[in-house]
Amino acid sequence: MKIVSILGVSALLVTAGFGLPAALADEAPVEFTEAYLNDPKIFEQGKELWFEQCTHCHGYKAYPGKAPKLKPRRYTPAFVYKRVSKGFKKMPAWEEVYEKDELMAVVAYVKSKKFSP
Ligand code: HEC
Repeated sequence: MKIVSILGVSALLVTAGFGLPAALADEAPVEFTEAYLNDPKIFEQGKELWFEQCTHCHGYKAYPGKAPKLKPRRYTPAFVYKRVSKGFKKMPAWEEVYEKDELMAVVAYVKSKKFSP
């Protein structure tokens, strides 16, 4: 009798397994999962950073300060991450100042409904 191999199936299950948590994925491009973006702890962390560094120019919420009004609904998390880490024109780059997880948290904050409903 012939033995039917299930190897193909099990290999598929392994590769379809869970990806790394975003915080552990060390190299760019960073990954923003829904779970990450909606994590209240991440929100609080990002909020702290926002009030520490971003309100100087961007104002309290998405309202105009010295910098243009932010329109978070139009941005992807990846776009916000890029602007925050690399800067753009008069927007400073923060990648030398903050750890990646801190930058990701401020992105989650900016993208949150509380920041810009
Ligand atoms: C020194 C003032 C300053 C600070 C501090 C600052 N920004 Fe900015 N930011 C700007 C300016 C000016 C622009 C517009 C750059 C351009 O497009 O010409 C900008 C653009 C952006 C954009 C892109 C907006 C768009 O529509 O293209 C994002 C997102 C952003 N800032 C987020 C942040 C976050 C988050 C922080 C805190 C970590 C921060 N900024 C701190 C001045 C600042």
